[in-house]
Amino acid sequence: MNKKTYLTTPIYYANASPHIGTAYTTIAGDVWQRFQLQHKKESFFLTGTDEHGLKIEKKAQDLKMKPQELVDKISAEFQYLWKKLEIANTHFIRTSDIKHQKIVQAVLDDFFQKGIIYKGKYEGLYCVGCEQFKNPSDLIEGKCPDHNIKPELVQEESYLLKMSEKQSELINKIKTDQLKIRPLKYKKEILSFLENQVLEDIAISRPQVKWGIPLPFDSQHTTYVWLDAFLSYLTGFGWKGPQDKKRGKEISSHFFHLIGKDILRVHATIWPIILMHLNLELPQKIFVHGHILSRGKKMSKSLGNVISLEEMLEKFNVEATRYLLLSAGSFGEDVDVTLERITEKYNADLANGLGNLVSRVISLNKNLKVSIPEKKELGNFQLFLEKKLRFDKALEEIWKIIEESNVYIEKNRPWELMKSNQKKYKKVMSILTSNLFLIADLIQPFMPQTALEIEKSLKNNQATILFPRIIK
Ligand code: MSP
Repeated sequence: MNKKTYLTTPIYYANASPHIGTAYTTIAGDVWQRFQLQHKKESFFLTGTDEHGLKIEKKAQDLKMKPQELVDKISAEFQYLWKKLEIANTHFIRTSDIKHQKIVQAVLDDFFQKGIIYKGKYEGLYCVGCEQFKNPSDLIEGKCPDHNIKPELVQEESYLLKMSEKQSELINKIKTDQLKIRPLKYKKEILSFLENQVLEDIAISRPQVKWGIPLPFDSQHTTYVWLDAFLSYLTGFGWKGPQDKKRGKEISSHFFHLIGKDILRVHATIWPIILMHLNLELPQKIFVHGHILSRGKKMSKSLGNVISLEEMLEKFNVEATRYLLLSAGSFGEDVDVTLERITEKYNADLANGLGNLVSRVISLNKNLKVSIPEKKELGNFQLFLEKKLRFDKALEEIWKIIEESNVYIEKNRPWELMKSNQKKYKKVMSILTSNLFLIADLIQPFMPQTALEIEKSLKNNQATILFPRIIK
């Protein structure tokens, strides 16, 4: 089936540089996207930066910078690092882009005229780290567990977005998988949340926050950053606003959102309800991943337990970084990452496993022509990668072939056959080179350069060292 996809990562807050946690979602999206393109499926891939709101306003104040200067700098860092990490996104959206801001205002106007947004009062506990109002039951000892800070009590006049009138429709869509939330435990989690309370109308404006898109009908208020951010999923793919129904439906009905578990609730409530109010379709699928932990806590700038991307890229190369992050554990669960552990994995899987196999096969393949085998489909591999997003398992399927090939070399000893039995030698080498072509084909979405290099070395019979061992 040649299904179309509009794939998104969350847009990243432009208050701090990228780290391996934010790179994780983006690399996963890129691997999925490359797999689609490799299999000739139509897929568009959006990532970007979330550039408004209190968190950014405060950070700019601390740094004595203008918010615009700060977001320009950080957004440039994201774009630079994503390129370096070989992220082949088709679009990059910045919410400070004027075109995006105008469309957000057009949506607000449309909602206000239809009474979907109305003026009221709002009171709640606001966590600036999450840029969200929190339920008291979400807090641990009065603090937001993700940011370890006490949310601030906010009581203010505000514009509210109607939520509860769409609640039963939303529950039904999630239950029947018209809006698929995966892995299943997250679907259950959100259904149990939705079935146990009435969704309150939410504040979509903040009178105290200056750094945001002004409401078109009340310039004393700026737009709530999550509403602004969600609309980027549409504007980033070229949607022109509420009148642009055709493109809006085309995009929204093919949405595939990748998100971290900390932002599931907003994605499974506010976002689909905005889409319903716009008379658009709901996303096909929201896939939720766990967090990268460091010493048992979510890796984040605000907690100060981050392994920097630069550090990782310097120690390993780009391709190894992509491999090490996606093979670290099950994508839907939390994974604890330490430099020691990933260095060990680098040496075992990349230096000794793949790197060793490639250099052995090429050096043993003396003066033999190689022929590119027919493409083979691996059932489990595709299922793990494309449907279940178990990147670790998909990689294990490839590593089984690597291990089998290494064992096959030991068993058949082609360096002896070369002298004693040319016929068998050729047969053994043809199996090994076919395996390498297959491996190159399968790892292509994960490590595109390595795949090319393996194919090139095979065709030119040229030795190559792919992943030198790292001592320490
Ligand atoms: N700006 C919002 C998203 C708006 S989308 C309409 C936001 N930004 S964020 O920069 O805080 O987080 C973006 C994504 O990065 C989230 O999916 C989050 O889960 C992910 N990660 C941030 N730290 C992470 C880890 N330590 N591990 C895995 N993912 C992490 O939320």
